[in-house]
Amino acid sequence: MRIAGKEINLRNLKKNDAISLFTSANDKDITRYTLLPYPYTLKDAKDFIEITKRNTRLKKAFELGIELKETKEIIGMNSLTNVDWKNKNAEIGYWLGKEYWGRGIMKEAIKLLLYFGFKKLKLERISATVLQPNLASAKLLEKSGFIYEGKLRRAILRRGKWYDQLCFGILKTELRK
Ligand SMILES: CC(C)(COP(=O)(O)OP(=O)(O)OC[C@H]1O[C@@H](n2cnc3c(N)ncnc32)[C@H](O)[C@@H]1OP(=O)(O)O)[C@@H](O)C(=O)NCCC(=O)NCCS
Repeated sequence: MRIAGKEINLRNLKKNDAISLFTSANDKDITRYTLLPYPYTLKDAKDFIEITKRNTRLKKAFELGIELKETKEIIGMNSLTNVDWKNKNAEIGYWLGKEYWGRGIMKEAIKLLLYFGFKKLKLERISATVLQPNLASAKLLEKSGFIYEGKLRRAILRRGKWYDQLCFGILKTELRK
C-alpha cells in the first residue's frame, strides 16, 4: 500500500527499513509520550516490521511508514490501529524523527491517513489520545481538524508517573477537502 503526498509518501514497511526505523525511533524525546521502548533496538525495529505485516494482512491495523520523497528513507510512522469494523472506527497514532520536526510533515501525513481511513476504509470516526503534557501532539490534532472530546483523569501510568489522557475525535463528515 502506498499513499502519495507532496513531501512524503505513506507506505507499508519492508525488511530493509529496519535501520532507518531504528535510527529515528531510538530517541528519548520520541518515547516520552508514546508506547515505544527506550532504548529502541534494531531488533525492536525488525520485530515491529513483522508485526505490521501480520496486522495489515488481518486488517487489524494499518501501520504505515512515513517515507521522505527526497531520500526514500522512513523517517517516522503514522498508523490506524484498533480498527473496529463493526462500529467503523479506528485510532490514529504517530511519531516522527526529531530532525524533521516543525516542517509540517506530520500535518501532511495525518491528512493523507485521514483520507485513506474515511474514503478507502469507509470509517465513520477516527480517534486519538494524547498524554496531557504533549502539547505539540494536541495542537497538531486540532490543526488537523480533530475535536477535543474530554479528559480521562489519571488514566495512564507510565514509568511510575500518572498522566491525564486527552481524547480527540474526527468524523467522516468533518473531513476537510
Ligand atoms: C508531535 C509530532 C508528531 C509533531 O510532528 P511535526 O511534523 O513536527 O508537526 P508539524 O510540523 O506538522 O506541526 C503541525 C502543527 O502542530 C503543532 N505543533 C507541532 N509541534 C509543536 C510544538 N512543539 N509545540 C506546539 N505546537 C506544535 C502546531 O500547531 C503546528 O502547526 P503550525 O506549524 O502551523 O503552528 C512530533 O513532535 C513527534 O513525533 N513527537 C514525539 C512523538 C509523539 O509525541 N507522538 C504523538 C503521541 S500522541
